[in-house]
Amino acid sequence: MKLLLDVDTGVDDALGLLYVARSPGVELLGVGTVFGNVDAETAAYNTLRALEAAGRREVPVAVGAARPLLAPPIAATWVHGEDGLGNTYLPAPAGSPVAETAVEQILRLTRTHPGEVVLCAVGPLTNLALALGLDPDLPRRVRHVVVMGGVVMRAGNSGPMQEANVWHDPEAARMVYRAGWPITQVGLDVTMETFLTDRHLAALVAAGEAGNRAAGFAAQITPFYLGVYQRFLGQPRCAMHDPLAMGVALDPTYVECVELHVDVETRGELTRGMTVADLRGLAAPALVKEKPNVRVALKVDAGRFMADWMARILG
Ligand code: BDR
Ligand code: CA
Repeated sequence: MKLLLDVDTGVDDALGLLYVARSPGVELLGVGTVFGNVDAETAAYNTLRALEAAGRREVPVAVGAARPLLAPPIAATWVHGEDGLGNTYLPAPAGSPVAETAVEQILRLTRTHPGEVVLCAVGPLTNLALALGLDPDLPRRVRHVVVMGGVVMRAGNSGPMQEANVWHDPEAARMVYRAGWPITQVGLDVTMETFLTDRHLAALVAAGEAGNRAAGFAAQITPFYLGVYQRFLGQPRCAMHDPLAMGVALDPTYVECVELHVDVETRGELTRGMTVADLRGLAAPALVKEKPNVRVALKVDAGRFMADWMARILG
């Protein structure tokens, strides 16, 4: 399968990149970056660090949007560290980002491989929105869009009802959700059920000490992020948001989805950035006027996913 990633690397983005980079049968065409956890350029260098740790220096990394369509950018450094990789301040990667922008990369690769590219976005959706604005034919050329973002049945993480990636740029998310392409939403409903624990971390540390570079990199960057989650969850574990979304891009059977109409609130005083799912679609679909536009993941086989994620990193 041909995969194009859009990331704001970030610890969990990096943990997902290691997994994709070590997955057989995946043609990773490129990675684009966006502001979010850190600025877009720092995200690109973090992406290169993760790809190099996984032995995949050849994958092109393109820098994307520096800010949301309308709102000011706000970095999530309190979750991912000032450097985005858990305040590890790792040495610079050997490679550099390509000259093309992330938006140009989306447009070019979907023209080269029409109907074949799976686009998995695990940061704010600004690059996708900008690409849609430049080329309204884009949705017809993309096979599947998998978004780590949103939440419909549980609490948010950037506000009472808001998930961070959608909250960072609600206007962009609205454009993406309204674009008429096949979208799977891998939101907090399932990612807050999928955890890396202190036991996983101990196995990564041991493999890293035994010479596994990808495991060693994961072991270095994760403790800060795990510590942040431990403080608010009360348990030594952290959410595998982006790795799960990338996992679903490769194997949709990790989750069970329902088809719902979902839109993004952009103006609500308390709810700007909320994914508003018409849950009447579950019990009384006749009451819903709009057609479902999103496959929303509501259940996850977290045990199988985490076993596969560990096997990919340790293998
Ligand atoms: C999302 O926000 C970021 O902090 C993570 O990398 C993930 O993509 C979770 O809400
Ligand atoms: Ca992310």
